[in-house]
Amino acid sequence: MATLMSGAIAAVSPLPWHPHLWHPTTQVATTDPPLRVVRGAGALLELDDGRLLIDAISSWWVTLHGHGEPTIAAAIARQAANLEQVIFANFRHPPAEQLAERLSAHTGLERLFFSDNGSTAVEVALKIAWQWWRNRGEPRSQFIAFEGAYHGDTVGAMALGERSLFSAPFEPLLFAVARAPWPATWWDDPGVEEREAAALARLDQLLTTPTAAVILEPLVQGASGMAMVRPQFLRAVQQRVRQAGALLIADEVMIGFGRSGNLFASQGAGLEPDLIALSKGLTGGFLPMGVTLAREKLYEAFVGEDPALTLFHGHSFTANPLGCAAALASLDLLEAHPERYAGMEARHRPHLETLAARPGVGRPRLLGSIAAVDIAQGPAGYLNPVGRQLRRSALAAGVVLRPLGQVVYLLPPLCITDEQLGHCYAAIASGLEQL
Ligand SMILES: Cc1ncc(COP(=O)(O)O)c(C=O)c1O
Repeated sequence: MATLMSGAIAAVSPLPWHPHLWHPTTQVATTDPPLRVVRGAGALLELDDGRLLIDAISSWWVTLHGHGEPTIAAAIARQAANLEQVIFANFRHPPAEQLAERLSAHTGLERLFFSDNGSTAVEVALKIAWQWWRNRGEPRSQFIAFEGAYHGDTVGAMALGERSLFSAPFEPLLFAVARAPWPATWWDDPGVEEREAAALARLDQLLTTPTAAVILEPLVQGASGMAMVRPQFLRAVQQRVRQAGALLIADEVMIGFGRSGNLFASQGAGLEPDLIALSKGLTGGFLPMGVTLAREKLYEAFVGEDPALTLFHGHSFTANPLGCAAALASLDLLEAHPERYAGMEARHRPHLETLAARPGVGRPRLLGSIAAVDIAQGPAGYLNPVGRQLRRSALAAGVVLRPLGQVVYLLPPLCITDEQLGHCYAAIASGLEQL
């Protein structure tokens, strides 16, 4: 695939909608029809008319090393020729064993339960936490999550997430969740300590009710607008959760596998969760797979003669060998080249400083691969039209962005070149001029 030529991309001419496809999170009546992608290589996507786009959002935060990364592609092909799938009840296989051993060594959590995506990885964590208390004979029913949280689109994960336009039609199906404020912060934020203190005070109140688990997205809430908190806040949360005897669930579906600058954000923040949900970058972004890692003490409460102790949860494709092979190859890359993820923050920084100095741009924030700003125009929230305008102008400049309302962010694959990264920032700057 040719490299991106600056200025080579003309205005975007949309295709009509396909008569048989139904796209996710998409209002057909008000959205531009989707572009047709025929190939991906590195940070680039190639459209059917030959145009190239920089995938500055890693295709919904999944593409970790780059599109078509050759060692992962080869590992999947090798595995497909050997064993493509086998039922994971009554059977196990080497790729699953190796992945469990390696992720356990990296996280310190001894047990790994497979599922299919980020939402199911969270659902499993939720069910383990709930049933663990029941199996011990001390049922606890309160879950605590944070304002602005997003944990997925299945019903349980949606209940844990912040109530929003997205969850509103399903409100009667969602169980009640107690919620504490999320004291998001940014560069030169004078009010952060006050907001953290208020959040902790609220958490203290909530924890007076016996609590099964507290779930959080370590360091960054992604979907609610790349809302970043300080590690010391999370450690203060952890301390309170421990004191209350509740479990701590880290949803690292988005931030895991180097996105935070550390292999796992929990580690970087000094957290030792009881359960961790992982997906997205797990397979390098090649195949859908989720895992939930759990402490041995949780697993032990599910073992016994009484069938009621069993975790009755499973998916047809549990521990799919192709997904495991992709995940192992992705881990090989992360272990061999930690500088690739550890170095992203320094690569973003000078560009973000320049962007943040522009009028109308505020709240710059940066963690690992993720850089974000708020555009001071229109109401805060997903429906702010600024996001759509910037998405269109970036596309015309050859860059895929998907702003979250007024929040514009970059979360590129690790292979992005300096030239491509510079081009992404230039596309945002020129989009801002056209607003
Ligand atoms: C923090 C977090 N948890 C869970 C999910 C749900 O993952 P999936 O879309 O794979 O179901 C997401 C997706 O963006 C996420 O960001």
